[in-house]
Amino acid sequence: MVEITQSEKETLVFGKKIARCLDRGAVIALHGDLGSGKTTLTKGLVAGLFPRKKITVKSPSFALVNQYQGAYPVYHIDCYRLEDAEDLEQIGIDEFMYGSGISIIEWPEKISRLLPPETLHIYITALHETARGFLVRGRSELLEKIRRRVNV
Ligand SMILES: Nc1ncnc2c1ncn2[C@@H]1O[C@H](COP(=O)(O)OP(=O)(O)O)[C@@H](O)[C@H]1O
Ligand SMILES: [Mg+2]
Repeated sequence: MVEITQSEKETLVFGKKIARCLDRGAVIALHGDLGSGKTTLTKGLVAGLFPRKKITVKSPSFALVNQYQGAYPVYHIDCYRLEDAEDLEQIGIDEFMYGSGISIIEWPEKISRLLPPETLHIYITALHETARGFLVRGRSELLEKIRRRVNV
């Protein structure tokens, strides 16, 4: 599916809608250049997962992984500075991606071979200063669910 947002706020709303469609154990790979909106979409996703909790989402570029705790853990992983996929294997990425929490991954192409086949892939493109395009790829049932929620 494809979606276009015209502002940061619309991207947050889009993230919240996607979040309502996710099950525990989901892995979301956010593809896109610096400044395209991966961290902004993550803020929307986390807000949608735990609407009653105020969680501060920050880019984990230096930490590599931020963990947010709601009813279950959300792992926010940024692979930008990752030299080698083995670094992530060492910090136990399998536990994140095959556990019962939700994993959100920026720069996932660095670890593409570690991503589960059911991963929801979102490709973000900056179309204009404040317009962003989102191409969402994944299991057809999940895409249908997202499409329905986005179109109400
Ligand atoms: N429609 C939009 N959606 C998301 N971010 C937008 C949008 N329009 C402008 N922006 C700006 O683009 C930047 C996106 O930054 P960020 O989410 O940190 O990107 P990334 O994590 O991909 O590097 C922010 O400064 C945000 O305000
Ligand atoms: Mg980012």
